[in-house]
Amino acid sequence: MAIRLGDVAPDFTAETTEGTINFHEYLGDSWGVLFSHPKDFTPVCTTELGAFSKAKAEFDKRDTKLIGLSVDDVTSHGKWAGDIEETQGQALNFPLIGDEDRKVADLYDMIHPNANDTLTVRSVFIIGPDKKVKLTLTYPASTGRNVSEILRVLDSLQLTADYKVATPVDWKDGEDVIIVPAVSDEEAKERFPKGFDTVKPYLRVTPQPNK
Ligand code: BEZ
Repeated sequence: MAIRLGDVAPDFTAETTEGTINFHEYLGDSWGVLFSHPKDFTPVCTTELGAFSKAKAEFDKRDTKLIGLSVDDVTSHGKWAGDIEETQGQALNFPLIGDEDRKVADLYDMIHPNANDTLTVRSVFIIGPDKKVKLTLTYPASTGRNVSEILRVLDSLQLTADYKVATPVDWKDGEDVIIVPAVSDEEAKERFPKGFDTVKPYLRVTPQPNK
């Protein structure tokens, strides 16, 4: 069954490159990014794992834990990690789940049989500290993901969790945000002391409140 926004992220216990992990315990009170790649020792996946590892400090800044997965086993992941370091100039620095029995892949509907009936697609799940799913993304095997976009969405999710705002198209941290329609002008004056611009009654723009 597909996982939808707002669902509790299914919990599991799995073998990883960093030992046995219980997913919810691993996340603790942090945000999390669970993502699958189709197969070890493949080119696009090698670049992705290097790029996520290079960006680990940015995920740490956002109190976000990374965990990857494919239907290869942990021994394979461990051997492949050497290639990632050699070719991408960066060692793997977060756990990769060995899911050779597809337990987690099935739980998260990461195998799309009409695309490939044995390998996981490139799924991304962002999970909040409440363990609920905040974002899902699905990419085909042939398209590597964009790490900056995942960090950008985390910035938006973390901002909108704390303030009654939404973020407009192509928004980046530090740019103006939108006051959600449920907030009256009167409430907006109190909540957003930097002021706001009413472009339309339903489109009110204010500086990012936590900057
Ligand atoms: C890749 O990572 O390059 C890849 C993996 C599976 C199918 C196609 C490409």
